[in-house]
Amino acid sequence: MHPLHNAAVDLIAASDPAIAGLIAKEADRQEHTLELIASENHTSPAVMAAMGTCLTNKYAEGYPGARYYGGCIFHDQIEQLAIDRAKQMFGCKFANVQPHSGAQANAATFMALMDPGATFLSLVLKDGGHLSHGMKINFSGRYYNPVHYPLHYAKDHPEHERINYDAVREVALQCKPKVIMCGYSAYPRTIDFAKFRAVADEVGALLVSDVAHIAGLIVGGSHPSPFPHSHVVTTTTHKTLRGPRGGLIVTNDEELAKKIDKAVFPGMQGGPLMHVIAAKAVAFAECLAPSFKTYASQVVANAKALAAALTSHGYRITTGGTDNHLMLVDLRGKSTDLTGADAEKWLEQAGIICNKNGIPEDPRPPKFTSGIRLGTPAITTRGLGEPDMKTVAALIDRVLTAGLSGPAQLESTAASVRSEIRALAQLFPMPH
Ligand SMILES: Cc1ncc(COP(=O)(O)O)c(C=O)c1O
Repeated sequence: MHPLHNAAVDLIAASDPAIAGLIAKEADRQEHTLELIASENHTSPAVMAAMGTCLTNKYAEGYPGARYYGGCIFHDQIEQLAIDRAKQMFGCKFANVQPHSGAQANAATFMALMDPGATFLSLVLKDGGHLSHGMKINFSGRYYNPVHYPLHYAKDHPEHERINYDAVREVALQCKPKVIMCGYSAYPRTIDFAKFRAVADEVGALLVSDVAHIAGLIVGGSHPSPFPHSHVVTTTTHKTLRGPRGGLIVTNDEELAKKIDKAVFPGMQGGPLMHVIAAKAVAFAECLAPSFKTYASQVVANAKALAAALTSHGYRITTGGTDNHLMLVDLRGKSTDLTGADAEKWLEQAGIICNKNGIPEDPRPPKFTSGIRLGTPAITTRGLGEPDMKTVAALIDRVLTAGLSGPAQLESTAASVRSEIRALAQLFPMPH
């Protein structure tokens, strides 16, 4: 464990042993398990430390140079650095670094671009979209009118389970949306931003690309950029971007940038989380370093290697593989009895952390699912490489095979895999 982390836990222990104890246990859990959740990562000590600073004490409502509180001289400089680095990362002109999360970034963008009740086009949650892209009980589904475009569902189609771009156009021509959204939570293939923009132009819509998952790959040069095609780009900062939990909105359009700033504050939020904005700035500087390019390409190489290794164990990977950091594993390739819920639970018992995930046209409900979603951002941060992906796939298969054989078999196999994972994790220490 990084000495800074230990010092922080000791400090907390002096006033709150209960919380300090739980943080220490969580640190131990992270240290000794393999994190395969596609939306998670391990930040650097510097990013983590920035969040635990005096910046949390300050109100800084407003923007650099135009605050509603005194004493913001250093906050202005910190936020400006974060903005400048964000613009540099995406090669664009305007950035708002204040959204507290990815969902808040989307909510502010919707508020800036659409009136309540307006129609927008997106991919539905069960096909890989996000709840902030039109789920019924989310703000996006309650206050706007989502219409969804399909994937290719026919099994014999060469683009099976990929976005059906012709259908995107057809649906857009029918419903004339104000906004078209692309960018997803569980889509393993490259997004063709130019195709989306062509449809947006044809129907007079604005293109919003939510690159929350792939932002780090974009910045690291391992996925095409959403610019110049997108009118607005939203993202989280804590996934492949490897920063603190938070949101970010970038654009090249000055008028839209003004509307977005107003929608974030005072439209959506009060005071910005300045300690998190400082951590965003630190993370963005890390993303701009040449080594981040190597990281991003290794994330993708590892995902491809893991998908190939799992395929060789009899699992079906949706779309036949991956172009990015994640894959959806259709567990029915292994056994029709195997659910995502069981797989998630059994793997956790063995020290492998992932999440159950519906696959396109999943006959099982979201509570069970027929799939799991696996991602390589966190294990790549720890330094695992392509040869290690074969080991990881074999461990996953051992646990799931044992689970299918019954509780006794699962218990003994999970115990031995857990100790192998501990040994593997020790070879690849955490960055903090
Ligand atoms: C595509 C996409 N957009 C937005 C979000 C929301 O991010 P947050 O959880 O920070 O609100 C996520 C999170 O998983 C996501 O995958």
